[in-house]
Amino acid sequence: MTPPLDIAHKVALREHNTFGVEAAAEAYLRVLNADMLQAVRVSAALTALPRLVLGGGSNLLLTGDFAGLVLHMANTGITVIGEDDKATYVRAAAGESWHGFVLWTLAQGLAGLENLSLIPGSVGAAPIQNIGAYGIEVRERISSVRYFDFVSGTIENIDNAACEFQYRDSVFKHRLRERAVILDVTFALPKHWQANIAYADVTQELQARGVEEPNASQISIAVIAIRTRKLPDPAIIGNAGSFFKNPLVSQQQRDALAALHPQLVSYAQPDGRFKLAAGWLIDQCGWKGKSLGAAGVYEKQALVLVNRGGASGAEIVALARAIQHDVQARFGVMLEAEPVFV
Ligand code: EPU
Repeated sequence: MTPPLDIAHKVALREHNTFGVEAAAEAYLRVLNADMLQAVRVSAALTALPRLVLGGGSNLLLTGDFAGLVLHMANTGITVIGEDDKATYVRAAAGESWHGFVLWTLAQGLAGLENLSLIPGSVGAAPIQNIGAYGIEVRERISSVRYFDFVSGTIENIDNAACEFQYRDSVFKHRLRERAVILDVTFALPKHWQANIAYADVTQELQARGVEEPNASQISIAVIAIRTRKLPDPAIIGNAGSFFKNPLVSQQQRDALAALHPQLVSYAQPDGRFKLAAGWLIDQCGWKGKSLGAAGVYEKQALVLVNRGGASGAEIVALARAIQHDVQARFGVMLEAEPVFV
């Protein structure tokens, strides 16, 4: 027997999205375990509603009220579940704060996640968009992901390969989008750790601090300093981190653009393509620091859209469209939004 679900109605979501957009959910449930998801699944009234799974709300743009059921993942717990010659395996519940989890691993002397310090959001959201920063993506540290399957009603455990990780992308944004609710993630933290400090910002920050052979905690401190300097704190100014992905283009397209724009910032990819710095493209179009209504482009990083106070989802979308239009017109590149639009 599952206990009755404590569903709330007409819940304000402003505190649950880092953009700080005002919107309401028709129905809302704080999810503490898989049994609660099963109870939702077997309720005819609840399964009839559209569903939105919410973690920290840091990769989300609410374009209006949500006429459905918000499942807010709030399960907690971090456990070392094993080790072998290569790694220590740590399982963290979806509802844990990402940064809190990173700090926990470092406090245990477990290295491997330090470059991903201070990323807003929850552990359960990390695999969905394969969060990445300063030269590492979380896929490099994920061993497996457990999820509740809304179609079959079973709990599944899939390995790293089955997650189909790509740049800011995974199977959870595609085939499993409507059916999987991530319960927990198991990380493989390497025993033979090597510092990853090749990213220019990190190299410079450590140099400025006079640190030559940094340990994981020193890298974490450096990354926290860089992020604090460059990115707006969502607790102070609403935002969802990078609003656009860095677009991938062919070498031919990159060469043609570089011929016209010698300052173009691009990075060679293993598959021969190039990633362009979207922040640079937007900056060149003159958008940095500008606003459209109450939605704006952050002064210190053009890739980040901000809520200057009371912005609606529609205003943020209008700004995003205007930026996409200008970048397309000037560079022939269509920027793709990173957050999920609801
Ligand atoms: N640039 C500009 N003007 C700007 C912003 C950037 O010219 O307004 C140039 C910079 O000078 C630099 C280049 O663009 O040469 C890249 O900038 P940066 O190193 O700040 O990184 P990014 O490509 O803008 C990506 C991630 C961030 C991540 C950083 C650090 C994406 C979409 N964004 O940003 O991730 O923290 O690298 O690794 O891949 C996020 O996804 O929410 C996020 C913050």
